[in-house]
Amino acid sequence: MYKYVIKGGNRLEGEISVSGAKNAAVAIVAATILCDEPCVLENVPDISDTAICAKILREMGASINYTNKNTIQIDTKNIKSPVVPYELARTMRASSYFLGTLLGRFHEAYVPMPGGCDLGDRPIDQHIKAFNCLGATDEIVSGTVHVKADDLIGCQIYFDINTVGGTINAIFAAVKAKGLTIIENAAKEPHIVDLANFLNSMGADIRGAGTDVIKVRGVERLKGITYAIIPDQIEAGTYMVAAAATKGNVLIKNVIPKHLESITINLRKMGVKVEEFDESVRVSVDGPIMKTNVKTMPHPGFPTDMQPQLSTLLTIAEGTSIVTDDIFDNRFRYVAELRKMGAEITVKDKVAIIQGVKCLKGAPVKATDLRAGAALVIAGLCAEGVTEIDDIYHIERGYESIEEKLSAVGADIKRMYFQPKETMAIGG
Ligand code: EPU
Repeated sequence: MYKYVIKGGNRLEGEISVSGAKNAAVAIVAATILCDEPCVLENVPDISDTAICAKILREMGASINYTNKNTIQIDTKNIKSPVVPYELARTMRASSYFLGTLLGRFHEAYVPMPGGCDLGDRPIDQHIKAFNCLGATDEIVSGTVHVKADDLIGCQIYFDINTVGGTINAIFAAVKAKGLTIIENAAKEPHIVDLANFLNSMGADIRGAGTDVIKVRGVERLKGITYAIIPDQIEAGTYMVAAAATKGNVLIKNVIPKHLESITINLRKMGVKVEEFDESVRVSVDGPIMKTNVKTMPHPGFPTDMQPQLSTLLTIAEGTSIVTDDIFDNRFRYVAELRKMGAEITVKDKVAIIQGVKCLKGAPVKATDLRAGAALVIAGLCAEGVTEIDDIYHIERGYESIEEKLSAVGADIKRMYFQPKETMAIGG
């Protein structure tokens, strides 16, 4: 198995280019099912989550051609059945998007209950509510969700909670439904806007994406197009924090600075210098990192997907910070790992109290989910000594070539193979 081995203490300096957005890419790859002409997707991040999405399509009969590692030609016309293969789909959250896209195309879908990062209970009741509003029935049989509709009819969907996946699935099911669907209390994340732009370029009629009311007027068919995915807001934010944690000076390129605003504001409150340019931001530090209090919120608030990384920076800030994250049940699992590195953090319910320490110390730790893993990489970069991170497959679900990008700006990080230790049977 592979681990990242990081020798901490190097100041990051130079330029990092951000890849395409994971959470836009997984939705857009799934969206190609809604059209039976070839599509070319550019700036697709080369990560395991997008690879799995493409593999699911291939197993279902689509033709998938990588013209380079970030460009995929997808033709879904030979997909004839609305059944998603069990083993691949159950490993990732975004497999739920096949419910909406297959329902939109075939009026029926069979999709294994979605997996993904273990952040606590992750129900899909709001997705189902949207399908039901549009006229579909649902049942769960042996861990597979089955939705079916004779006809999908435009309707008014009001989400009880702000849900990214639910909003995306509602758009998918509505895009070829009859008449107008109005989605209220819709999520506003940048990847929802990107998905709507993709579908509109194919001929869909979606208005209001990026606000909390999205109107989708159903169209007969969508045409194949070439489309480039937006840069990854969270990957960019992760490198911004890494630059700050190592007191470095890094130009982070290929970003949309507007998408980074809530991250920029919080870093500036902590004394980090963030300069914004058209498509890049420069992060540097020339004084102490100061404490701050942060609460995660849906976009345009501070993203839950950046909470573990920012909290890691706060472990070496001056003073006591309070971080509240109640979007998911369990987004503080990385805290136990950071404590092994000398962090002083207590967590009660969904609030972490972080007492800054002078520095973290390298230790063997384990990525418990994707962003937890990213946080441990940051911790390793700024810690004294060597940090070995286990279970890095979590990190590789969402960060393209992370060790290459960080090495290029001066980090001492290696991806190394370790023979799994044999467990000795103890008799008696
Ligand atoms: N929720 C429900 N019922 C639903 C749907 C959601 O109760 O039907 C709850 C969830 O349990 C959670 C909250 O609503 O407490 C928000 O969940 P949401 O649906 O917004 O999240 P998601 O679609 O499952 C996406 C991202 C996550 C990101 C969240 C929040 C993808 C593939 N995943 O998840 O990304 O944290 O939105 O922004 O887009 C990551 O990239 O590391 C990641 C976990």
